[in-house]
Amino acid sequence: MNIGIDGPAGSGKTTAARLLAKKLGIFYLDTGATYRALTLKALNEKIDLFDTTALENIAKNLDLRIDGNEVYLEGQDVSNQIRVPLIDKNISVIVSYPQVRKAMVRLQRKITEQGDFVIEGRDITTVAFPDAEHKFYLDADPKIRAQRRFKELTGKGLDVNFSDIEKDLIRRDQADKNRKVSPLKISDDAIVVDTTGLSIEQTVDEIIKCINSGK
Ligand code: DC
Repeated sequence: MNIGIDGPAGSGKTTAARLLAKKLGIFYLDTGATYRALTLKALNEKIDLFDTTALENIAKNLDLRIDGNEVYLEGQDVSNQIRVPLIDKNISVIVSYPQVRKAMVRLQRKITEQGDFVIEGRDITTVAFPDAEHKFYLDADPKIRAQRRFKELTGKGLDVNFSDIEKDLIRRDQADKNRKVSPLKISDDAIVVDTTGLSIEQTVDEIIKCINSGK
């Protein structure tokens, strides 16, 4: 059984997906982490971000292992390195290339072959896992989403500015929703959960309620 969750940055989907998987005793995949690791590799290798062929090659040969929240690139734990503003700034162009996405979706499908998964991202319910048994779209007020992201980054000790975070979030929303390939959108059969006034526990309870009622 797969549960697919899509939604914009800061909608709470990563934390909710993680807790949901824990409560249900199944695996969890953050597909954003796969694109983040690819972006890190491209930056490390100083690849021209407009060189689609080089990026496709990296995507096809990416040595990536994901274990819950931990992400290993070529055997190295890069879990923290991939969740910084430098990656946020460079990722949108990379995730817009169809051939790159194709290779990454193949990798995500391979990772999830090992069992039941909660899978979260932007195109999970629409493109990558359209056959998921349960589909959700999490959303929240942009101001609240920016506050959550700011809290996450400052919580890690990063020196960031709220207005920069908010601007970058809005820019990424636009890029994710308006790109030609696999844009972020609400799948016809997805249940929308507005997490603006909800805690993570409440969000997960709402999702479990929907699953138990067969949605
Ligand atoms: O969920 P996140 O913020 O870690 O995702 C990072 C970026 O990757 C985000 O700007 C959009 C992109 N992404 C995507 O295009 N498709 C996915 N399935 C997951 C993430």
